[in-house]
Amino acid sequence: MLNKEVPPPYKDNVNYVEDLTMMGGRRFEPKVEHKFFYRDLDLDLNKISDDLHREYERIKNAEMRGVAPFNREKSYTEFFKESNSISTIKSREYNVFQMHYDWAHDLFTAVNQMAQEACEYYGVNFNDYRFIAQSWFNINSKDKGGKLHFHDHTRKDYGDIAFHGYFSVSAEPSQTHYDVDGVLKVNENKNNRAILSKTGYPHAQGDWEWDGPRITIAYDVIPLHTMQQEAFLKMPILEETDKLWEQHYNPLPKKF
Ligand SMILES: [Fe+2]
Repeated sequence: MLNKEVPPPYKDNVNYVEDLTMMGGRRFEPKVEHKFFYRDLDLDLNKISDDLHREYERIKNAEMRGVAPFNREKSYTEFFKESNSISTIKSREYNVFQMHYDWAHDLFTAVNQMAQEACEYYGVNFNDYRFIAQSWFNINSKDKGGKLHFHDHTRKDYGDIAFHGYFSVSAEPSQTHYDVDGVLKVNENKNNRAILSKTGYPHAQGDWEWDGPRITIAYDVIPLHTMQQEAFLKMPILEETDKLWEQHYNPLPKKF
């Protein structure tokens, strides 16, 4: 059920970069309040669900190029283990936006449009940032146990603008909770809806009551220059597949 209390402090993700001043090439402080951006799509959710279940098995069995065999002990993000979704744990080893599905292309197009709208809202120049994206999917169920507790997709000390969001394939009825500067903000999940939020506001999956899978496709949109920083490129290789890190993101097209 909905926890109306202010969420507990969240743990940072793995600290890849020692020198905090290297995080974020440009300082960004929002001058407007948090806002969700969204697009209601008309995608065939049954097909997406079938496709993602098939891809889940490929990831689980390490049959997808770039995906290492699943090893619960060695997984680099302690944090995402709590989800019990292998496609979540291995989110850095594949990119949904590089999958050959019509719906993946459509979703990516919506993400690009939302990112443009969000940049306008926050008063930054979209073209100037040369955004790149990664996308993964989450298949959770009460049966499997586990869900994502409060976390963010950039560190608290991240100094620039970045976005995160998700598309609900099968997530009704359920909620996603956001910690907006210490105040709980609830997003009611709606199937076939893609949302985008600025990072810097930790979020968590709310409880859900139904049996069967809860499926979402998540994505990060970050500036290219974040990845170009020397500190980022020097981050340690933690697993075999981390060598593929630099081939992981795809660019968002600029507006000309
Ligand atoms: Fe998240």
